[in-house]
Amino acid sequence: MLLLTVVVAVVGLITPPALADDVTAAYTSLRTGWDDNEPGLVPSQVGAPDFGQLFASSVDGQVYAQPVVANGVVLVATENNKVYGLDPVSGAQKWTRSFGPAWPVSTVNCGDLVPTVGVTSTPVYDSSTGTVYLTSKVNDGPDAQHPHWYLHALDIKTGTEKAGFPTTIKGAPTNNPTVPFNPMTAMQRPGLLLLDGVVYAGFASHCDYTPYVGYVVGVNASTGVQTTMWSTEAGTSDEEIRRRARAHIEQGPITAGYQADRETVIRLLNEALATELVCVLRYKRHHFMATGIHAQAVAQEFAEHATEEQAHADQIAERITQLGGEPDFSPDGLLGRSHSEYVPGEGLLEMIREDLVAERIAVESYAEMVRYLADRDPTTRRLVEEILAKEEEHADDLRMLIQRLSERGGEP
Ligand SMILES: [Fe+2]
Ligand SMILES: [Fe+2]
Repeated sequence: MLLLTVVVAVVGLITPPALADDVTAAYTSLRTGWDDNEPGLVPSQVGAPDFGQLFASSVDGQVYAQPVVANGVVLVATENNKVYGLDPVSGAQKWTRSFGPAWPVSTVNCGDLVPTVGVTSTPVYDSSTGTVYLTSKVNDGPDAQHPHWYLHALDIKTGTEKAGFPTTIKGAPTNNPTVPFNPMTAMQRPGLLLLDGVVYAGFASHCDYTPYVGYVVGVNASTGVQTTMWSTEAGTSDEEIRRRARAHIEQGPITAGYQADRETVIRLLNEALATELVCVLRYKRHHFMATGIHAQAVAQEFAEHATEEQAHADQIAERITQLGGEPDFSPDGLLGRSHSEYVPGEGLLEMIREDLVAERIAVESYAEMVRYLADRDPTTRRLVEEILAKEEEHADDLRMLIQRLSERGGEP
């Protein structure tokens, strides 16, 4: 059992001014440490013979939490999960409580706070209800790997626990449910904050014991109901991302975080590649076969489309290789893999109509791919979205060509 002496110094012992309560870490919720109502701490008083130690009281355990002074009580909490209400003038013990067995730090092989963790953070006092709030780590699970963190609410005058408390801190952060709270690795060091009826506690990790994220936990000061758990990091940790990046380095850009079925995406892309290649061939044919008085402008449009479909084919082929697949350029079965058909077309208007049908097929199939890829493979999805936008432009160009030709009396 560790015994530690709490030394309290009080200014102006002979004619004591009203003692200012000290109810939260670093004096204010802003943690400034600045008491602008200090009744009279001036150099002459600090140097006066009556300035000095007022009392010494023994407590069980190391004291890391700043004592709270409120409502005629000095509240001291220890790493052995002992809490004391002391008289601020005499140091006499008014009451004491134990929160249960403190947690052995040796569980995580850590040199900090040896030998036990109980209450580490500075409590916070609510002057409107006379309640002081504290967190404690208690070794009350089946083994030291499964302790619990509690938020206590004590009447500072008597040490009696308030109804609805203690609250067991648990659950998963609302902004990152994949990293549930682990009471074993979690450490609560920052002073508690009381804000708008909620007590907030910040958690990190003992000795950076991994894996961990930071948590901010809120508990309703009246009811003891946990109101929030928020993670300071959302998503996969850097450490995990780095580990995955080193694994299967031969897969290039494909990491363990890749959410899509790679084989499926490669098959879909090869179908899109075939569709684009068939479009290139059809537009080329139409370009060279366009005849009649309106042919020149239309033929030019066909040529531009052919060039752009070729660019799409190249982009798709490149993505297939990035995904570790092989782009299928084989003429065997090209039409079978393509979504659109190859219709030579008789006359200008029919050619344009067939091209419009093909573009509409492309629009439909790319839109479907975008829905499938969603968040599973955002890179491929963005590529497909870009191509989709271009196909919609193509379809619109062709629609306008048909309209213009119809206005001029159709085919020459
Ligand atoms: Fe295309
Ligand atoms: Fe197109």
